[in-house]
Amino acid sequence: MKLDDSISAVVTGGASGLGAATAAMLAGQGVKVALLDLNAELGEKHASAIGARFFHCDVTSPDSVEAALKGAEAAHGVARVAVSCAGIAIGKRIVRRDKDTGANEAHDLASFQRVIAINLIGTFSVMSRTAAAMLALPPLEGGERGVIVNTSSVAAEDGQIGQVAYAASKGGVASMTLPVARDLAKDGVRVVAIMPGLFETPMFAGLPDEARQALAANVPFPSRLGRPEEYAQRVKPICENPMLNGATIRLDGAIRLPPGYGRLPRSGCLPASAAEPAHPHSVAPAVRAGAY
Ligand SMILES: NC(=O)c1ccc[n+]([C@@H]2O[C@H](COP(=O)([O-])OP(=O)(O)OC[C@H]3O[C@@H](n4cnc5c(N)ncnc54)[C@H](O)[C@@H]3O)[C@@H](O)[C@H]2O)c1
Repeated sequence: MKLDDSISAVVTGGASGLGAATAAMLAGQGVKVALLDLNAELGEKHASAIGARFFHCDVTSPDSVEAALKGAEAAHGVARVAVSCAGIAIGKRIVRRDKDTGANEAHDLASFQRVIAINLIGTFSVMSRTAAAMLALPPLEGGERGVIVNTSSVAAEDGQIGQVAYAASKGGVASMTLPVARDLAKDGVRVVAIMPGLFETPMFAGLPDEARQALAANVPFPSRLGRPEEYAQRVKPICENPMLNGATIRLDGAIRLPPGYGRLPRSGCLPASAAEPAHPHSVAPAVRAGAY
């Protein structure tokens, strides 16, 4: 699919990080972009900076997804490109031992369900609704109607200590790719999932430089955290190359996550007073759980 001003796109999680960079890349190609995100303040600001539109959306609510996509369709027409980047990460082991009492505490269900609701069910809702709309579009040259790009994670394959919920959600996103690509193949809609490694986004906001450098040192080459623009750079050929379909693609500088990053400076990883990290998607709680 040629990316130009005849195409419209929706990007969830488009207010920040990987989604924001993807929205900027698409807008830079002339594509009419709608950012869907919970964070209205950041979303409005980024949308106006890149010439896109912002629509408030909570991907866990089918009504909110429907309303946001209707708004985007009214503004730009039905999207031929749908990129799901909305997501959160938590760090919690399956069983936690209370240091004071020695009691073994099972992972609570509520936080597990919350991660699944946003990362997996949210991706499913946006994918199913955008695909249904794409099917009513006339095909482009070559029979293509649309392309869906979802964001999994290397944690789908290399889930670390403290990542049971996150890895389950991202494994689900990866596993949906082939069956949905097969479901939609006869109608010319492609589905691809990207599995990013470690990317420098607000997700890492709770980490001090020392911990950031230690994470980067584990990446074989280039030995640094990925840049959001490099994720966006990966999305572009997925849209353009019709043979990319039904695939889950790692984008990780050859990193294979170890079980945990036990040697990272844990005590320095969080502000002493922080009960919770400033950013909802921070990996800091994963550090606290021993995942990093
Ligand atoms: N940064 C990394 O290293 C990395 C690695 C692997 C996978 N990922 C995945 O990439 C995606 C983007 O992550 P990021 O690093 O850009 O994080 P980010 O926190 O910068 O962006 C995530 C965005 O999702 C939005 N969001 C959260 N919950 C939402 C909801 N219920 N409805 C709508 N929007 C919601 C947030 O407001 C935020 O703008 C996530 O799915 C994440 O799991 C990131």
